[in-house]
Amino acid sequence: MTGGTERASFPAGGAQWEDISQRMADFSAKDIDWRGGRAPMFVFKNDATTQEIGLKAYTMFFVENALGGGRAFHGIGRMEREVLDYGLDLLNAPEGAKGVFTPGGSESIFLAVKAARESHRARAGAPRHGLNMVMPDTAHAAFDKAAQVMDLEIRRAPLTEDKRVDPEALRALIDDHTMLIVGSAPCYPHGVIDPIDALSAIALESGVWLHVDACVGGWILPFYQMNGAPLRAFDFALPGVRSISADLHKFGFCPKPASTVFFRDVADQERSVFVADQWPAGVFRTATLAGTRPAGAVAAAWAVLNHLGTEGYRKAAARMAAMTDAYIADITAIEGMEFWAKPDMTLINFGSRRHDMMNVAAAMMQKDWLVSMTRRPVGIHLMMSLLHESARGQYIADLRAAIAQSRSDMPTPQSGTTGYA
Ligand SMILES: Cc1ncc(COP(=O)(O)O)c(C=O)c1O
Repeated sequence: MTGGTERASFPAGGAQWEDISQRMADFSAKDIDWRGGRAPMFVFKNDATTQEIGLKAYTMFFVENALGGGRAFHGIGRMEREVLDYGLDLLNAPEGAKGVFTPGGSESIFLAVKAARESHRARAGAPRHGLNMVMPDTAHAAFDKAAQVMDLEIRRAPLTEDKRVDPEALRALIDDHTMLIVGSAPCYPHGVIDPIDALSAIALESGVWLHVDACVGGWILPFYQMNGAPLRAFDFALPGVRSISADLHKFGFCPKPASTVFFRDVADQERSVFVADQWPAGVFRTATLAGTRPAGAVAAAWAVLNHLGTEGYRKAAARMAAMTDAYIADITAIEGMEFWAKPDMTLINFGSRRHDMMNVAAAMMQKDWLVSMTRRPVGIHLMMSLLHESARGQYIADLRAAIAQSRSDMPTPQSGTTGYA
């Protein structure tokens, strides 16, 4: 690849590591300084030791394949089962519940949607087509992907003042074709946990499957709770919750790609399984959409969870809570700045009725911060991990300067909330 626009020709080969690594470093020379907390998403690091342990475990099982976890790679099979057991334990799952290790939050959500659709279709007299999912306005776009693939309609329910879904408005959107309702713990745009208790009651009354998208919070909120944070319940302790997605590669601080999805009942989990038996090779059965999966990610998750354990995650949760409070206090102290919600986690979103946030964002980009924005309401969005702790002083100083200098001739910042290509 020369400059990114011309097509790269197939290499002649023979390059050695010294040259290969140098070229890769050169390609990345202009990358955002994520180590310095300048990326508002994408990377989640705990500390150097945890990263090192994850890396070592990953490379120890670099070649194996988690697809063969149960049959060929017994160590990986065991680690995967144990990681899933840890998650079931944390999320108060009852006996008979089952989890699946997946390559990411979007796939965890996809599997839950598939299972919910199959469960709906199995009900006597239930419509099989023209089905819909009812969810908060703030539910993640991964549900839109699942809807596109499975030909489902999405109905988004409005929020209350605190940016949580309005349960009564959500209830009003449910009809006979509704196969799933969703709540987030927390949602991406504002970092608030939806009223899952109220959604659980609606699910029980209506008989509709409730999925909790805890991709962000699933592996850390239980430790906030252990630390005494007054958070609303979101897990299987609420009887209407049928499935929960929870990402290890976000606030579980595990190497990518690693997520989990849990089902209250193994029979529900069976509905997410893919079985194909028409081809010449016989029955092909996988619990994930992906076939081949990195065994390293399973080993690394097991290693990181065993390294950090309850104490490590509680410490991380305490630091994250203190860091979020400090950012909120510093930003609120800036004239004209306000938060659109009081977040339950480290996802913050702030804006202004006085300053043009697009200009502020552009000025921040000129100061080498990657900026993520929301559209409704217009805000600057950060999904902070511990990397953002030490960046706070500089961030706040630059934000103050950006507000002071923001002018209408600044370049337009990248729109959209995530910047995924
Ligand atoms: C609330 C929520 N759900 C799901 C996802 C999708 O996760 P992934 O990027 O691992 O597919 C994200 C990603 O940021 C998220 O914030």
